[in-house]
Amino acid sequence: MNRPALIVLAGLALASCSREGEGEAAASAPTRPAPTAAEKAELLATLPAPYDQADLENGRRVFARCRSCHTISEGGTNMTGPNLYGVFGRPAGGHPDYNYSTALRQAGFAWDAARLDEWLENPRTFLRGTKMSFAGIPDAEDRRDVIAFLKVETGYAPPARP
Ligand code: HEC
Repeated sequence: MNRPALIVLAGLALASCSREGEGEAAASAPTRPAPTAAEKAELLATLPAPYDQADLENGRRVFARCRSCHTISEGGTNMTGPNLYGVFGRPAGGHPDYNYSTALRQAGFAWDAARLDEWLENPRTFLRGTKMSFAGIPDAEDRRDVIAFLKVETGYAPPARP
């Protein structure tokens, strides 16, 4: 066999190996396919007011202020702050692998839009002793938009209707 053909064969063998590797990784950590833009718009429309009126693009821009400390994808790493996938309905301080402040761990509530709104307006007055050093988002519309953005990006599912 000539040399270029061998190189091609070796390349194919490597490519199939790495595909198998990815398959195993996917099997051990199942991830749902990310929602499409249409699915996000549909979910947005089911949110209670004022969130159904939110501007998701602005929400994405506002979230740029959080990105240095938080990931939002499923299984995303904890950085300075915890991964926020699945945060709605999760007890405050509830990510199993993140080392929270005592204040947040003992907060005693589950996150919903209303709590998040107060938290994001001023984390330190909302929860004294938190280690989230973030000044807050003074603008109510920016908070609305970033909360709606988080709902559609972090796996929130609206309660099933009868
Ligand atoms: C400078 C880093 C930093 C920035 C910026 C930041 N956070 Fe945080 N965040 C943290 C830390 C640290 C904690 C954990 C606080 C504690 O344990 O008291 C936290 C906790 C949280 C929690 C509670 C999570 C849980 O599991 O209970 C939410 C929700 C949150 N942040 C949302 C946001 C959003 C939204 C933004 C942007 C508007 C933001 N954070 C910006 C560092 C940050």
